Amino acid sequence: MAPRRATPAPAVGSLDGLLASREIVVACGPGGVGKTTTAAAAAAMAAARGGGKVLVLTIDPARRLANALGLDGIGNTERRVPDDAFASAGVRPRGELYAAMLDTQESWDALVRHHAPDERTRAAILANPLYRNISGRFVQSHDYIAMERLFEIHSEGAYDLIVVDTPPTRNALDFLDAPERMAEFFSSRLLRWLILPYRSRLVNVASKPFYQVADRILGTQFLTDIAEFFVLFQSMYAGFVERARAVQRLLADRRSSFIVVSTLETVPLREAEFFAQAITDRKLHLGAIVLNKVLPAYLRDPQAATVAERLRDRADDIAEAVAPELEGADVAQVRRVLREVGQNFMDYRVVAQSEAEMQAELSTAAETLVSVPYFETDVHDFSGLMRLGAGLFGE
Ligand SMILES: Nc1ncnc2c1ncn2[C@@H]1O[C@H](COP(=O)(O)OP(=O)(O)OP(=O)(O)O)[C@@H](O)[C@H]1O
Ligand SMILES: [Mg+2]
Repeated sequence: MAPRRATPAPAVGSLDGLLASREIVVACGPGGVGKTTTAAAAAAMAAARGGGKVLVLTIDPARRLANALGLDGIGNTERRVPDDAFASAGVRPRGELYAAMLDTQESWDALVRHHAPDERTRAAILANPLYRNISGRFVQSHDYIAMERLFEIHSEGAYDLIVVDTPPTRNALDFLDAPERMAEFFSSRLLRWLILPYRSRLVNVASKPFYQVADRILGTQFLTDIAEFFVLFQSMYAGFVERARAVQRLLADRRSSFIVVSTLETVPLREAEFFAQAITDRKLHLGAIVLNKVLPAYLRDPQAATVAERLRDRADDIAEAVAPELEGADVAQVRRVLREVGQNFMDYRVVAQSEAEMQAELSTAAETLVSVPYFETDVHDFSGLMRLGAGLFGE
């Protein structure tokens, strides 16, 4: 692939550099820490600064963020984010930004269409009454299909960079293992057992009582539907397993990298560390750790602390001097506010200091450690996204 960058190469150990040198970057981490926002902001920055065609593949973004990306009302199909969106943030992008939102059902249908051995099987699966229900709840269906869709888009080769958002998984590792689990499922004894009675029409001795009971409770039609569904599905076994392995290879090679997003709160951070370890253990590339919603550095400035202390400790004198400037505010009132403001600053300072210590501890965990401040408002429009993006690029 041709290098997309005309400007000098960015520093190694920067997020900028990571995005410029990889074809797939997967943002993962604990729930609610800003994975979706970070993925979108990183992709927007890569398109704006680096150029080329950049896709952000998001999973269920907040409504307002989806609007900001021009994703409203669309699913699987990639859409170009209009230059107007960049213009609203005062940016002239060098490249193009695209966005798509994963639609699990649509992706499953596409997969079935791709792998079904013939037209009849394809139609039978798509028409199977259980298929629509099961495909949505299938073993880690969401995780698997996200990886599968990523593979599909990457193979088409239309984008220089794909930034992937991941779902908030209860088990942090689910999506990493999803392709392998899918492959295992298709070769499992459970699946073989499930389809046995349908295929042979001879219920084997060991399972007979079970089927008699199941038959009474669920009805023959239901069991037949289940069996038919899995028989049809099994016809796609080879394709599925091969694809699952290909997805794994793609994620493990040097075109792909992972970033772990976290806040510096105790529980998410612990989960993020576990994530980082899991990525490394699987011999995947841990490109960066992004610490989001970090308290601003000025809280740690010793001079600012001195000011805050004075505000608190000398509130009496200061209130006397300041009250007349505040349209005749009550001196006692001003005193209380000053004390409170001063003390609050000192409290935040303690938290900011402990955050800084945690950051220092993490600095060796990945090639790149980036921190982004906590903004006063949610990141819900393109300007907010670019602002967060600038923080990611250390600007
Ligand atoms: N640096 C920030 N400052 C302020 N708000 C932020 C920041 N980063 C993200 N947010 C806000 O935090 C909320 C959660 O962000 P986001 O949806 O990106 O998290 P997530 O990790 O994708 O969540 P989930 O695990 O549920 O998918 C959003 O409302 C977003 O606007
Ligand atoms: Mg999200």
